[in-house]
Amino acid sequence: MTHSTIPTARLGEHGPEVGVQGLGCMGMSFAYGPTDADASRAALERALELGVTLYDTADAYGAGENEKFLSPFFRAHRDEVVIATKFALAIPPEDPSRRIIRNDAPYIREAVEASLRRLDVDVIDLYYMHRRDVNVPIEDTVGVMAELVREGKVKRLGLSEVTAAELRAAQGVHPIAAVQSEWSLFSRDIEAQVVPAARELGVSLVPYSPLGRGFLTGSFADAATDLTADDFRRQQPRYTGENAAANAALLEPVRTVAEAHGASLGQIALAWVQQRSAVHGLPVIPIPGTSKPGRVEENTAATRIVLSDEELDLLEPISAKVAGDRYADMRFASAGRE
Ligand SMILES: NC(=O)c1ccc[n+]([C@@H]2O[C@H](COP(=O)([O-])OP(=O)(O)OC[C@H]3O[C@@H](n4cnc5c(N)ncnc54)[C@H](OP(=O)(O)O)[C@@H]3O)[C@@H](O)[C@H]2O)c1
Repeated sequence: MTHSTIPTARLGEHGPEVGVQGLGCMGMSFAYGPTDADASRAALERALELGVTLYDTADAYGAGENEKFLSPFFRAHRDEVVIATKFALAIPPEDPSRRIIRNDAPYIREAVEASLRRLDVDVIDLYYMHRRDVNVPIEDTVGVMAELVREGKVKRLGLSEVTAAELRAAQGVHPIAAVQSEWSLFSRDIEAQVVPAARELGVSLVPYSPLGRGFLTGSFADAATDLTADDFRRQQPRYTGENAAANAALLEPVRTVAEAHGASLGQIALAWVQQRSAVHGLPVIPIPGTSKPGRVEENTAATRIVLSDEELDLLEPISAKVAGDRYADMRFASAGRE
């Protein structure tokens, strides 16, 4: 396999150009079982060599640990990387295992200072509201975020798991560069309303979990038996038990397409997400997560795969047949608020 650098795409109406595939860094510290710091550092460096410039983290990933882990890499390559982090999932002092959603001004101000400190940089390139607190008007939240832009703490704003109406309201306060939401062969809720709104408003789409948290690669079949006890995917209804068995059968057409391209299942899943850009007419910058340099090579190579109309047709029915929700607690998804 040859490894050339990936093409670029625009992050928001006024740029910057970033590698058309970003890197999700969450699993380097949190959520998906054992971590390997050396491999993760190698993955970060390999990604940069291959033209990946958008790096995704959040204050909630390992309660700040992920931002701290990434800091030396970001500082070493400050002018080459676009740092995206997020606020909104607060840790209640009485129970550190829980998360509560907060979008209020005092919380945001505290969160941005803490992220800047942990990342050890002067400015965050893209600052996302990670989840929506329905008790705070989104105009107020984005108003505070806009103040952070004016104060030079943050360059651009993003929103994660918002509805089309929330995106429109937010855009009325300050330009939004990107919406980050789950988008994959298994999760296509956002295509109905959020994606058309983003296209209309000049907002780029950053699909998270484009590999279905690894399930679409075939690397695990049932989270309950194949993954470690602390792995977050064991809590997700679609990856365990009967649901997982039914969903594994849905990978058959992905396998057929993969064989035709001499590609892996994951590469076809990524090529499909990437091609949403042409299908829906807006910049799409998926952020597959991996902590392994070899997988960075595999995933970035998927940017060169183009699926035919017949192949897209074969993959089209999959998402409607997926058994089980994305989250056990659907308050963490925007879908219920549409
Ligand atoms: N905004 C939000 O609410 C939200 C939610 C979830 C995630 N995110 C962001 O989106 C990023 C990506 O999502 P994600 O990590 O949940 O899911 P994902 O990218 O769909 O899948 C990641 C999983 O797939 C495995 N993997 C990656 N490449 C592979 C390959 N080529 N072959 C086999 N397995 C492979 C990874 O394991 P290895 O590390 O072992 O390779 C990891 O377990 C996260 O890192 C995070 O930054 C955001």
